[in-house]
Amino acid sequence: MTRRKGLFVVLEGPDKSGKSTQARRLIGALLSRGIKCLHTREPGGTGVAEAIRKILLDPSLRVSPTAELFLYEASRAQHTEQVLRPALAEGRVVVCERYTLSTDVYQGLARGLGLKTTTTLNKVATGSLAPDLTVVFDIPDREFHARDRGRVLDRIEREDAPFHRAVRAGYRALAKKAPRTLLVDGTRAADELHEEIVARVKRLSK
Ligand SMILES: Nc1ncnc2c1ncn2[C@@H]1O[C@H](COP(=O)(O)OP(=O)(O)OP(=O)(O)O)[C@@H](O)[C@H]1O
Ligand SMILES: [Mg+2]
Repeated sequence: MTRRKGLFVVLEGPDKSGKSTQARRLIGALLSRGIKCLHTREPGGTGVAEAIRKILLDPSLRVSPTAELFLYEASRAQHTEQVLRPALAEGRVVVCERYTLSTDVYQGLARGLGLKTTTTLNKVATGSLAPDLTVVFDIPDREFHARDRGRVLDRIEREDAPFHRAVRAGYRALAKKAPRTLLVDGTRAADELHEEIVARVKRLSK
């Protein structure tokens, strides 16, 4: 296993909670300081994982909860080995949208497969590579619709209201217990959230 020396930052939260916005801004701030970094996302980030992402998000497919879990973990295994570990070994700050917490929340809690199963499979897929910081954006469900602006919805976004409520509740519950995890109010101004995240990352990189 490659030795780690970079910094691993994960951005989490429900759909449209601001992950990509804050990832882009954090990467911008790091680059402007001349810090070597990498912006990536799950599911995806490699050829194999992006191919799996297409299956996972295709609204025309019916995927069983267990098959879904394994597809996410297959994508994660490939991404961890091919992208995350090498970048961290090079000393980069890796900013990744979604990681193991998404699987605990969506498959473990919202789909009901259980946290025991998801934590076990997360460990297998990642070889126990854990983030140095996970930021969870909490937004009320109505905010999703306000931010959505009539786009075509993917397979997961098309789930019913109780599923999305379970996702939000799951994030809030797990974020409070998980190590090195910061739960933030995702309805705050993007500028303010950016400042807070940069301050956290700075403290960790010292
Ligand atoms: N703090 C904020 N306040 C208000 N609107 C925001 C905020 N952050 C992001 N947005 C807006 O909300 C929408 C979704 O943001 P973004 O794409 O960053 O979320 P995401 O979590 O990456 O979503 P997805 O689940 O689609 O990947 C965008 O239109 C973005 O401009
Ligand atoms: Mg996004």
